[in-house]
Amino acid sequence: MTPPRPQPGILDIAPYKGGESTIPGAGRVIKLSSNEGAFGPSPLAVRAMQDAAQDIHRYPDGHATALRQTLADAHGLDPNRLVLGAGSDEIINMLCQAYAGPGDEVLYSAHGFLMYAISAKAAGATPVTAPETDLKADVTALLAGVTDRTRLVFIANPNNPTGTYLTVEEMTRLRAGLPDDVILVVDAAYAEYVGRDDYTDGLAMARDLDNVVMTRTFSKMYALGGARLGWCLAPSRIADVLNRVRGPFNVSVPAQAAGLAALQDRAFAEKCRAHNDEWLKRTQDALRQLGLFLPDGVGNFVLVRFPDEPGRRAEEADAHLKSQGIIARRVAGYGLPDCLRISIGQADEMEAVIAALRDFMGAEDASKETA
Ligand SMILES: Cc1ncc(COP(=O)(O)O)c(C=O)c1O
Repeated sequence: MTPPRPQPGILDIAPYKGGESTIPGAGRVIKLSSNEGAFGPSPLAVRAMQDAAQDIHRYPDGHATALRQTLADAHGLDPNRLVLGAGSDEIINMLCQAYAGPGDEVLYSAHGFLMYAISAKAAGATPVTAPETDLKADVTALLAGVTDRTRLVFIANPNNPTGTYLTVEEMTRLRAGLPDDVILVVDAAYAEYVGRDDYTDGLAMARDLDNVVMTRTFSKMYALGGARLGWCLAPSRIADVLNRVRGPFNVSVPAQAAGLAALQDRAFAEKCRAHNDEWLKRTQDALRQLGLFLPDGVGNFVLVRFPDEPGRRAEEADAHLKSQGIIARRVAGYGLPDCLRISIGQADEMEAVIAALRDFMGAEDASKETA
């Protein structure tokens, strides 16, 4: 008997491994492995999901009309050009499914988000990486990686797991150098956290050009990863294509309700942003003082490179953090075996991280010395 065979490329996919969430034998765990938002969701979003449960026998509004309108109003956009997904992962998937197939290439930078390769392979296309420079996407290298088979270019801005970003000028140069029939996808999953003047989330390009898509998520600053909610701004033709391939009810009733409520809770969002600004900087400063290398990252996480010395390597740091109940993310799967990615958590959690790494690096605790 011949066994059923999946489509070419599918068995080449290394299944995505999410951040760990438990440590055998540990009591309280500090989970900083999935960039999930330090404070959890807005209480308004939680209440909206509870209320939505009353009517869960009803199918959702397949057009997510209210949420698309609210997002469009918030960003000054045409709601007809917004497409929602069960997480932005689904949108990445739909873009690959719709625009790339066998013989086509999907280009991204060497340490880019893993879903680009997974979705490309699931569509039968070939993922292609371009080298980075100093852990940052390199526009020249990306443009050199374009062939006549390239259909999509994905850039997470800022990128996960490096935290580095392309400036508006660099992103513009990238788009200008790509053939017109190649779609540039700016994945702005962490945009809400970024306050730098030279940053772009890709919104203006996706609004004004026919071949740029911007994706966003409610999983990070709005901390609704478990609800699965993401969206994109796409040119009308691309939005129309995505609406043809997407499942008719791909975003659940509770997810739509939670998204609407989260957008309304501006004070909560502001608190999350301010906390992240403070603790991203404090964490970066404290870990650099220990002699560790951290790229100039933005977002709600830090990438930390450990020295290639016995007792100081990334896997040993990971084991030490775990012994203190702290779960960071190993990023060997991103080609960064000497690094850990650590999400920005609450203040006491970050103090615990800093203390544990200070201990790991054998440094004196300056705060105790001056106390
Ligand atoms: C850069 C980037 N894009 C997209 C996603 C997917 O987010 P979601 O599918 O939860 O919206 C993530 C999640 O970690 C991410 O880091």
